[in-house]
Amino acid sequence: MNTKKDFKRTLVTAALPYANGGVHIGHLSGVYVPADIYVRYLRLKGEEVLFICGSDEHGVPVTMRARKEGCTPQDVVDRYNRLIKESFEQFGISFDTYGRTTSPTHHRVAAEFFHTLYDKGVFLEKESEQYYDEEAKTFLADRYIVGECPRCHHEGAYGDQCEHCGSALSPTELINPHSTVSGSTPVLRKTKHWYLPLDKYQEWLEEWILQGHKEWRSNVYGQCKSWLDGGLLPRAVSRDLDWGIPVPVEGAEGKVLYVWFDAPIGYISNTIDLRPDDWQTWWKDESTRLVHFIGKDNIVFHCIVFPVMLKAEGSYILPDQVPANEFLNLEDNKISTSKNYAVWLHDYLKDFPGKEDVLRYVLTANAPETKDNNFTWKDFQARNNNELVAVYGNFVNRALQLTKKYYDGVVPSVGELTDYDQQTISEFRDVKSKVEQLLNTFHFRDAQKEAMELARIGNKYLAESEPWKVIKTDPDRVRTILNLSLQLVANLSIAFEPFLPFSSKRLRDMLQLPACVWADLGRTDILKAGHQLAAPELLFEKIDDEVVDTQVQKLADMVKANELAAWKPEPIAETVNIDDFAKLDIRVGLVKDCIKVPKKDKLLQFTIDDGLGGRAIVSGIAQHYQPQELIGKEVLFIANLAPRKFGNVVSQGMILSALNADGKLSVTGLDREVKPGCKVQ
Ligand code: 2FM
Ligand code: ZN
Repeated sequence: MNTKKDFKRTLVTAALPYANGGVHIGHLSGVYVPADIYVRYLRLKGEEVLFICGSDEHGVPVTMRARKEGCTPQDVVDRYNRLIKESFEQFGISFDTYGRTTSPTHHRVAAEFFHTLYDKGVFLEKESEQYYDEEAKTFLADRYIVGECPRCHHEGAYGDQCEHCGSALSPTELINPHSTVSGSTPVLRKTKHWYLPLDKYQEWLEEWILQGHKEWRSNVYGQCKSWLDGGLLPRAVSRDLDWGIPVPVEGAEGKVLYVWFDAPIGYISNTIDLRPDDWQTWWKDESTRLVHFIGKDNIVFHCIVFPVMLKAEGSYILPDQVPANEFLNLEDNKISTSKNYAVWLHDYLKDFPGKEDVLRYVLTANAPETKDNNFTWKDFQARNNNELVAVYGNFVNRALQLTKKYYDGVVPSVGELTDYDQQTISEFRDVKSKVEQLLNTFHFRDAQKEAMELARIGNKYLAESEPWKVIKTDPDRVRTILNLSLQLVANLSIAFEPFLPFSSKRLRDMLQLPACVWADLGRTDILKAGHQLAAPELLFEKIDDEVVDTQVQKLADMVKANELAAWKPEPIAETVNIDDFAKLDIRVGLVKDCIKVPKKDKLLQFTIDDGLGGRAIVSGIAQHYQPQELIGKEVLFIANLAPRKFGNVVSQGMILSALNADGKLSVTGLDREVKPGCKVQ
């Protein structure tokens, strides 16, 4: 399995999601589906493996959510822990345990871990100045301070980042900072914290990662290299906060462990709760292989900070692989929890019941393994209809239906194999080693493609063998064709088990096959002649246009709503005096007629009753109104604007309209009838 060491077991961890919100498709595609594929594959091979996850329940994100919802942090984590755990279960993410960092075991283990490093003299103790809210009597986490961005001058920048221009900030850089807790202006106050001296481990990390782990994915290796090239600095591992694990030393009242110090220790404490008797074998025995599945924003913590903690403690193994994914975008926009721009798993399950595997399939097919990738509902539909239904489902259904028709659903015996049969067998045997090699090296997307190749081979075999024709001339030959086809179907249930566990289970139920093992992949005698199959059912069904159109619309509505929420009126223009204003002759006009200007998408031509014989005005609002909507309306127009020619028409004036936050133009009207030609003043 691994070229460097002879590992006996694998401990797989998946990033502990913050229990401050639901999980969305970005989480699933970046971390949990690939981790689950890998673990299911190892289990199928009969390897010893543990799959550890749980919720990350401390830190500022949780306290912020509690404050927003007017409840306690404990309420927040209780609620989201349950929701997230359920979503994962429903998608078949097969953790051996899903723990919590608020558990007593975790509090004890994390505190002991800190204490061990403290006793060893690992930490630096340093005083620094941090913002303090005198009204709320609390130090402020960076996210609780907002102010004007020093770079783009956006008003709502956070103490750690300006979301408007994307700059990373420190709270003291903000112009006019204020606390979001009380609204008051914070003051700088001295506070003491414990720092992990990453700089002292720089050389060791360079050796361990840059020399020792050249096989890590290029995105992971590259990010580590750039951190190391930039030179590491000590990092504070405590915070002034009232939610978290108290720093377990004297003089640390009101201070808790930084969430990124305690969270990865959650992998250890969750293992202890699961395997109290032999957890040390999983964490301290060199023959255990540790693999962390994470998203790209977690790379520094899993490849630099946590390994330094483990190394400093001294008795733990280090990660052997950290297959981090990049980000998944959604319909070309960034997924955003705070803007509710996401496909939430609990919503998907409501809208697409029974289609868990479809999402797993599409997310793997589009996994952001080496670069950011994009999820679109059209692609989701296309992959379902053209791959799952038309290739995999179609082959399975044809093989099973023909067996039912010709042999009452009993597996026929195999006769003499033709060269073509032999060639097909060798093609599908090749798939096994290809899938294995790809899974061993964490190339899940290509591995799934190869598994689908089996179904393509099957479809081609049936199409070219034409059993429905041959049955009339050579019924014995059909026995062989269908036997081989059914063996291929059985192979598909194994090859797809790591990727599409629900469909594999349904398929095995149809085949009346008990649990499968990876070693059977490539075999042509999985189903014995005479074996009775169950009634065939469709494995996948088509998804219609309306269904995905509704989802696309939902997201477009969300983008609109976010734009409207973020909209601010333009600053007021330079002051003018009354004489300047008086130069404009603004009048009331009645729209007598309105037509589109030929060959000009944006223009409407108005005939206006101005009380003085009428005039033509051309206005650029054709994309906002149908011409007939405007006939009979009273509008305001500038009557003394210099005439302007549009094609053959001379426009005499300008109709006033307001530009709404959503980009739509509205013509200004009056709240009671006014005679055309009256002056606006
Ligand atoms: O980024 C996150 O969602 C973090 N809660 C991941 C923590 S992973 C581990 F260290 F626990
Ligand atoms: Zn900015």
